[in-house]
Amino acid sequence: MDTGSPQLTRPPEAAEDWTVPQDWDHFSREEHAVWDLLFERQSKQLPGRAADEFVEGLNVLHLSQPGIPNFEELSEKLTKATGWSVVAVPGLVPDDVFFDHLANRRFPAGNFIRRRDQLDYLQEPDVFHDVFGHVPLLANPVFADYMEAYGKGGLRSLEFGSIKKLARLYWYTVEFGLIRQAGNDLRIYGAGIVSSHGESVFSLDSPSPNRLGFDLERVMRTEYRIDDYQQTYFVIDSFEKLLQETQEADFAPLYERLQAQSDLPITTVLESDEVITRGTQDYVRAA
Ligand code: PHE
Ligand code: FE
Repeated sequence: MDTGSPQLTRPPEAAEDWTVPQDWDHFSREEHAVWDLLFERQSKQLPGRAADEFVEGLNVLHLSQPGIPNFEELSEKLTKATGWSVVAVPGLVPDDVFFDHLANRRFPAGNFIRRRDQLDYLQEPDVFHDVFGHVPLLANPVFADYMEAYGKGGLRSLEFGSIKKLARLYWYTVEFGLIRQAGNDLRIYGAGIVSSHGESVFSLDSPSPNRLGFDLERVMRTEYRIDDYQQTYFVIDSFEKLLQETQEADFAPLYERLQAQSDLPITTVLESDEVITRGTQDYVRAA
């Protein structure tokens, strides 16, 4: 989603829906090696940290060849699991295009990979973030339904001029969500966290950030930062509950109500919040 960024222009090689052929053969040996390195490192770090559903979904990324996944082969496996496929796009795409892909169970993934000197940090989503971060959960039937519902809700939010509010829901679930699993154990599932070597530890172990119980309306009021580790994470109880709560609700009256309410700064903790951890915010002060 590109919410907030300036008008994007479609490159001449891209189709109307902004897709491009992945052209798997264009990736160099070095680019495949960077994928393998990132993949190795993160798959080792995630058991016990990532939601069980995510770790199970990693299977879908084990293809016949190492290196950056071939989207044709990957999509075939993913379609069998949940009806989703992965399509290549040059980079960020306009919101309506993005939503339309999701609404039709297509996940748009960037057709480039970070360089070896950028392993730990990159602001633009590359194929490692998009595929390693997002695709495993798309193999989970419940999360797969959530993402489709989100796409449809996104198209709908455009009619209400409420895309900014809805984008926050995406940010605090799909990108940076935490989940409570067996034994009250906190786990990560957001793609921005699972694809980050640093944040997959920070988000769970650091005393710095707030960890608050998920509340739909509250989340849609909360600002976020895109340039560093999050200062607040929201914790869901299950993917089933998240899907139910968002799919069944009519967001139209919610958008209307939100229009009258102020946005909440990132670190605000409300009386009404379920506080799992009150962060020290030391990480930010030290930066
Ligand atoms: N129920 C939401 C609406 O009425 C759609 C939606 C579903 C949005 C799931 C986000 C996630 O717009
Ligand atoms: Fe992402």
